[in-house]
Amino acid sequence: MAHGWEGDLVRLVPLDAERHLENALRWVNDPEVTGWLLIGDTPMARGAEREWLEATAAESSRMGATNVVFAIETLDGAHIGTSGIHHIDYANGVAHTGSYIGEKGLWGRGYGTDSSLVRAAYCFDVLGLRLLCSAYLEGNERSRRMSEKAGYREVGRWPKRYWKRGAFRDEVLLALEREAWEAGPAYRFTT
Ligand SMILES: CC(C)(COP(=O)(O)OP(=O)(O)OC[C@H]1O[C@@H](n2cnc3c(N)ncnc32)[C@H](O)[C@@H]1OP(=O)(O)O)[C@@H](O)C(=O)NCCC(=O)NCCS
Repeated sequence: MAHGWEGDLVRLVPLDAERHLENALRWVNDPEVTGWLLIGDTPMARGAEREWLEATAAESSRMGATNVVFAIETLDGAHIGTSGIHHIDYANGVAHTGSYIGEKGLWGRGYGTDSSLVRAAYCFDVLGLRLLCSAYLEGNERSRRMSEKAGYREVGRWPKRYWKRGAFRDEVLLALEREAWEAGPAYRFTT
């Protein structure tokens, strides 16, 4: 699918159940992929995943959507993950972001960072937001490093907030402000 928002490594494209269901189903049922995610602790049935994909694709397509989710594809069209902008509050210019790269063999090769940078440009230049909030569970070093490279900074923690795979873990809270984004290695989607 050669249309969407492009960076150097990835393109954020509309969710499409026909195109993205099989991978998404495989990833959300893979304990290694969900080891640090808030999903994945109950089995995801095909019907439920299809329903989620279709509903989320429709919701993301609406003008003024408050939940916008993209599939992450490489520039040659391989589907590798999901990138979301949630709880979009246009009045205050704030949203919450989250993502995963489902293809485990591709972790650590820059795809997560590139997709975060593309998403940030989309949020600031296209949606006109001013502050992106995010979070990861303490111990998720890839996520910590990726967020840092994408310009997010730690702003606090909820101690031992979530039970995940054998322990209560801090939720590390992150912020990416428009000013910090502009000062960093930013893509721009301006005309
Ligand atoms: C977290 C995630 C999105 C990051 O995407 P990615 O493509 O792997 O990330 P990148 O390659 O852009 O960046 C990862 C960085 O972490 C580094 N890294 C990898 N493993 C690490 C470790 N154990 N300790 C420290 N740094 C580590 C990489 O070297 C890289 O940094 P570098 O470019 O400075 O070398 C992806 O790994 C993923 O989806 N993991 C599973 C689900 C998940 O945790 N999602 C995020 C929930 S908050």
